[in-house]
Formats: sequence, structure tokens, C-alpha cells
Amino acid sequence: MTYMRGTLIRNTTATRINHWITGACFVLLMLSGLSMFDPVTFFLSGLFGGGQSTRAIHPWIGLVLVLSYCGLIVQFWRDNLPSRDDWAWMKAFGRVLVNEEEGVPELARFNAGQKFVFWSMTLLIPVLFATGIVIWDVYFSPYTTIETQRIAVLTHAAAASAAILVWITHVYAALWVKGSMRGMTQGYVTPGWAWRHHRKWLRRLVAAGSRGPTPRSGGRARGP
Ligand code: HEM
Repeated sequence: MTYMRGTLIRNTTATRINHWITGACFVLLMLSGLSMFDPVTFFLSGLFGGGQSTRAIHPWIGLVLVLSYCGLIVQFWRDNLPSRDDWAWMKAFGRVLVNEEEGVPELARFNAGQKFVFWSMTLLIPVLFATGIVIWDVYFSPYTTIETQRIAVLTHAAAASAAILVWITHVYAALWVKGSMRGMTQGYVTPGWAWRHHRKWLRRLVAAGSRGPTPRSGGRARGP
């Protein structure tokens, strides 16, 4: 793919495909999961061909999500490691909320909010997977007890509720910070966007003479 002149590569094509497979799976899991959660939302099972097929298909989508999210972990974990800037960013959160960058510290590739989303999902998705296996009756009911399944179903619903809240925050932030969506749809951002929101990332790219992550760098920006 060719990127517009003067722009920076935020995410490679492979990263974006990986991200949107994860996003699509999450939305499908949320809709099918909600339909099984309460009679009020049961009507959502119509989207999946009825109650029985929703129950059959939900765990398989979960499996795809787990594999897909592993791909995101591999590509993003390094840039999500905690740093001193995270505290400073959190202290300046009031300014971030009103889109005022004066007094907000310079940041590398991700801010503390993005890191929170990353690590929350990294914790919640394995919990959903493990508890999901326990309640995947067709294959695993002979290996568990009803008591274990009761705990698993409760934990599964609690983890799903937390993941949905984290996801809402993620989508809200993605829409709120103008230019971020393009970084995940078309793959590029402007130098102005990088200067405003991720100045350390921009400085590193400039120092390395790079336009951003390449497929060969595993989706990560090269540089110091
Ligand atoms: C379906 C709606 C979604 C939208 C609109 C969306 C939007 C975005 C955008 C715009 C970015 C780029 C942020 C940047 O370049 O600074 C991003 C990054 C990311 N997204 Fe999503 N996303 C969605 C779903 C998900 C889901 C369901 C997950 C995980 C389960 C996820 C995990 C991530 C991760 C790990 C990153 C990299 C940033 C980080 O590490 O925090 N996204 N998303």
C-alpha cells in the first residue's frame, strides 16, 4: 500500500487487519453473549439464527478472538509497558479531556489510557476464555462439576461486563481524538497529530529517519 506523502505510518496493513478481526469478534461476542445473558436482550439471538445457533457459535467466535488478540499482544506489548510519563499524563487528565495539550507531558506511542485498555483486555480475555471453556457444555461438561460451572458462569459474566466497559472507553477515545481512527482504518497519521498526541514517538521516528512501523519490524516503530 502507498501512504500519502508527508504522513507517518501508525499501523501496518497486517496490524489493522488483526485489529479489526479482533474488533468484529468482540462486537459479535457482545451481541450473542448479551442475548444469552437476560430474557430482555434475547431478541439479539435473531441476528445469529436463534437461541440454539447463538449458543453453538458464541464459543467459536471467542476462540477466534483469543487467537486474534494474541496477535495484538505480540505487536503492542512493548509500547504498552508502563513509564514515568504515565503518571504525569494521569495528573494532566483534566486537560486531556478538554483537548488542551498545554501542560500535558510528551508521550511515546501510547498514553496511560491506551495502556489501561491494553492491559485490561490482556487480563480479561484469558479470564473469559478459561471460564468459557468450563461452561462450554458440549465438549467439557464431563470434566467439571455443576459447582465449578456456577462459579465460571458468574465470573464469565462479570469479566464480560468489565470488558464491555473497557471497550466503550476505547471506542469513545478513538472517536474523541480526531485523526486516531484514520491511523487504524487507513494506517497513517499526520505529523501534526503525532506532535500533538505522541510527541516522543514522533521525535524517535525523526531521529531514526523512519516513517513508522514496517511489517519487518513486527509492526513496531524502529529507532532508539
Ligand atoms: C470495534 C470497535 C473498535 C474501534 C472503533 C477501535 C479503534 C481503535 C483505534 C482508532 C486505535 C488506534 C489508536 C492509536 O493509534 O493511538 C485502536 C488501537 C487498539 N485497539 Fe481498538 N478499536 C475497537 C475494538 C477493539 C477491541 C475489541 C480490542 C481488544 C479486545 C481493541 C484493542 C486495541 C489495541 C490493543 C490497540 C492498540 C493501542 C493499545 O495498545 O492500547 N480494539 N483501536
